[in-house]
Amino acid sequence: MLDSLTFGFLGGGNMASALIGGLVARGVPAGAIRVVDPSEDARQRLAQSGVKALAAPDVAFGASNVIVLAVKPQQFRDAIAPLVPLLTDNLIISVAAGIRLQDVARWLGRTRLVRAMPNTPALAGMGMTGLAAALGLSGTDRDIATAVAEAVGRCVWVENDDQIDAVTAISGSGPAYVFYFVEAMERAAVEMGLSAEQGRQLAVETFRGAAALAAESPEPVATLRERVTSKGGTTYAALTAMEASGMKDAFVKAMHAAAARGREMGADFGKD
Ligand SMILES: NC(=O)c1ccc[n+]([C@@H]2O[C@H](COP(=O)([O-])OP(=O)(O)OC[C@H]3O[C@@H](n4cnc5c(N)ncnc54)[C@H](OP(=O)(O)O)[C@@H]3O)[C@@H](O)[C@H]2O)c1
Repeated sequence: MLDSLTFGFLGGGNMASALIGGLVARGVPAGAIRVVDPSEDARQRLAQSGVKALAAPDVAFGASNVIVLAVKPQQFRDAIAPLVPLLTDNLIISVAAGIRLQDVARWLGRTRLVRAMPNTPALAGMGMTGLAAALGLSGTDRDIATAVAEAVGRCVWVENDDQIDAVTAISGSGPAYVFYFVEAMERAAVEMGLSAEQGRQLAVETFRGAAALAAESPEPVATLRERVTSKGGTTYAALTAMEASGMKDAFVKAMHAAAARGREMGADFGKD
């Protein structure tokens, strides 16, 4: 499906590079991809992979079948300004964090839109992306957006733009929560006489293995947890200590805080 399309990326940074790498690996010819980035260094790096790197959008860029908006939210308004008069009937996918679909639609004067919220594991081809479509988006456009997101991992469609704030709170910011727990496990390992390197390896591989088990298993994760928690044993001691300190509630509350911040940022970026 993707290999017959042309792509334009506005912004050629980390997320765009990950998506471009994923698309090329799935058979999109590098020559079918144009990337706009003001940085000469970025353009040189991008051009090495065979894509057409430009300092500003041109007519051919504006005619791309799919345009991905991959600039920082703070750069978004300035970056889209030269693009607006060049747009044709493109499918536009915005990956900019905190920018609402309704605002992108208003600023671009377009409704063939998808908002995507990927996460940093996309850089390792293991991303998790939440997608929300503007009202009335066709099934074909949804399929294209799904294929783009799946070029760097997996994706889930949510019902509306508001739910992207929940996606941001769970998987968008999620890698940082995992790193936070790895840090804590590494510290505990050092306190118990292991090296930081051993602690890191034990923690990271445990996350990798547990995530693989959870992904493979049809059972609720609570069942998987209970299966490794015999009453009176070591895991039980750890989980009892976690429950006693209100860790799960605090963690859930933290994600509500992330979603609330997402809503606040959306309102702020979209205020004019
Ligand atoms: N990285 C992630 O994990 C992740 C996850 C979810 C969502 N996102 C979203 O993805 C977007 C891109 O993030 P990123 O991490 O890839 O950022 P990034 O590495 O900073 O990439 C953005 C690129 O856009 C360039 N740029 C600046 N002004 C431009 C303009 N007027 N026209 C075209 N390009 C312009 C920047 O150049 P300069 O560096 O020279 O300014 C930079 O190379 C952000 O909106 C972010 O919220 C990222």
